[in-house]
This record gives sequence, C-alpha cells and structure tokens, in this order.
Amino acid sequence: MDLGLTGKTAFIAGASSGLGRAIAKELVQEGCNVAICSRGFERISAAANWIRDETGCPTNQVLPLVCDVTSESDIVRALDETASTFGSINLLLTNAGGPPTGQIDDLDAEMWRSAIELNLMSTINLCRSALPHLRKAAPNHASILMITSLSAKQPVPSLYLSNVSRAGVQGFAKSLSEQLGAEGITVNTILPGYTKTDRLTHLSESIQAQTGKSIESIEEGWAAISALKRIGTEEEFAAAAVFLLSERASFITGVALVVDGGAVKGIL
Ligand SMILES: NC(=O)c1ccc[n+]([C@@H]2O[C@H](COP(=O)([O-])OP(=O)(O)OC[C@H]3O[C@@H](n4cnc5c(N)ncnc54)[C@H](OP(=O)(O)O)[C@@H]3O)[C@@H](O)[C@H]2O)c1
Repeated sequence: MDLGLTGKTAFIAGASSGLGRAIAKELVQEGCNVAICSRGFERISAAANWIRDETGCPTNQVLPLVCDVTSESDIVRALDETASTFGSINLLLTNAGGPPTGQIDDLDAEMWRSAIELNLMSTINLCRSALPHLRKAAPNHASILMITSLSAKQPVPSLYLSNVSRAGVQGFAKSLSEQLGAEGITVNTILPGYTKTDRLTHLSESIQAQTGKSIESIEEGWAAISALKRIGTEEEFAAAAVFLLSERASFITGVALVVDGGAVKGIL
C-alpha cells in the first residue's frame, strides 16, 4: 500500500528516543522529510544520525532541532525553521516525556502544574503554532496526531498526573477535529499501552523503588494485562501512527486509537 507520504514534511516532537523517534524513522522510510525535536542538542543529533544510519536516507532528509515543548518561543522557532528548510509542514506529531508517578497524597500543586504544562499545554501550543503551516499545506495533505496514553481511557492507579493531563488532550483533540474537518485537516490521538522504551524502563525502576518488586515481575505484570500477553514494540506502535498520519487515513478524524495489545477492557 502506498501511504502517499513521499515528499511530505513532518514535525515530530519528543523524538530523541522511544515512540517519537520510531515514528520519525518510519516516516523517513516512507519518503517524508522529518524535523525531529527534543530538549538537548546531543540527544537529538544522535537520534538524527541513528535514523540516517538505519534508513540510509540523505543527511538533509532529517533535521534535528532543539525545542523544549513547554516553551512557546521554542515551538514557534522550531516550526519556522522546519518550514523554511523544507518549504511546508504537512504532518504534526505532538509528544513529550511522561509525568512522574504518584497518587493524591504524593503530588503538590507544582507537580500538577508541571504535568499539565508538559502534556496538555505543550500539545495545545504545538497545534496553535503549527496551524498556519498546516492550513497552507492542507490542499496537499495535512494531519495532526497526538500521543497520549492508555491512561486516558482506563486510568492507571499510580499515574494520576498522566490520567488527568491525557484526558485533557483527548477533549482538545476531539474539539479540534470538529473545527478543522471542514478545512481538510485530520486530527487524531494514539494511546500507547505498555511499550518497551526508555520511559517504560524509568517507570519500572520507579515502581521497583516504591514496592521492592523486581523489574522482571513488574514487566510480567504489564504483559499479563494485555490480551496478547506481552509488552509492545516501538515499531508496532510506529506502524499504526504512520498510517493515521498518512493520506490513506484521509477519512479518519476525531478517533482515539489504542495500541496496547488489548490491555483496555472496554467494549468500545
Ligand atoms: N512507552 C510506553 O509504554 C508508554 C505508555 C503510555 C504512554 N506513554 C507516553 O508516550 C509518550 C512517549 O513515550 P516514550 O516511551 O517514547 O518516552 P521516552 O522514551 O521517555 O521519550 C520521550 C521523548 O520526549 C522528549 N521530551 C521530554 N520532555 C520534553 C520536552 N519538554 N520538550 C521536548 N521533548 C521532550 C525526550 O527527549 P529529551 O529528554 O532528549 O528532551 C524523548 O525524546 C510519553 O508521554 C509517555 O508517557 C508511553
């Protein structure tokens, strides 16, 4: 299947590792120009080199940018640099790291504010700033995809900050999909279940520190929740994300796709 992505330009936030980097790699393989961003030059340059090595793409097909998505000025600068380098922006992937674990007694007001900044406000600000670029590109395909979490659909007991901030993103995405549909811009969310990345490693270490359980037993517990009885891979997640961003998904908007091996137990 030709996904219709050749020659399109994608801006991928939170892409020095994990799910963002895996999606950027798949998009490059589909012929996209890709701007990738994260907070530090060293990590994002290493990710760009990794993508070039894995795909054999020309050096200038991947543009590494330093951009902290909690900073509005960083976002505007990075999007402008992407558009001036590649000529347009067709695809936006919103993403950042996950917030810390904790329940109501563990979290102070500042921790709540930081989590909302990191996962909700960054998504809103990325979309607001990318919109002029996406509107220009829309006659030639434009799509937004937001990474949230399975916790938006089925709250995780130890992840209050994620449960709440992701639910906000889901409401924002649905509102935006309604408004931008008439302009030909699709807006979807993708909800990872337990997927092997740096984030999952940090999460298991944090749970180990709190409970004394071994990393293996924590990961086995996550695998057992899913219908497929295993943790997912970055490549499996990226395949679904790239499809949702592609021209072949042109009649899909406003959906929340869970990619979790069957961990969420609701019927719909
Ligand atoms: N993996 C899973 O099982 C899973 C499950 C549910 C939800 N999620 C969510 O999916 C998202 C991606 O997860 P992941 O597993 O890929 O995590 P990851 O491996 O930790 O990657 C997170 C990426 O975001 C970047 N980042 C963090 N803060 C940033 C900021 N303020 N500005 C710009 N970039 C920032 C990091 O780069 P730098 O550190 O270099 O800036 C890194 O590239 C997270 O929100 C996570 O909570 C993951």
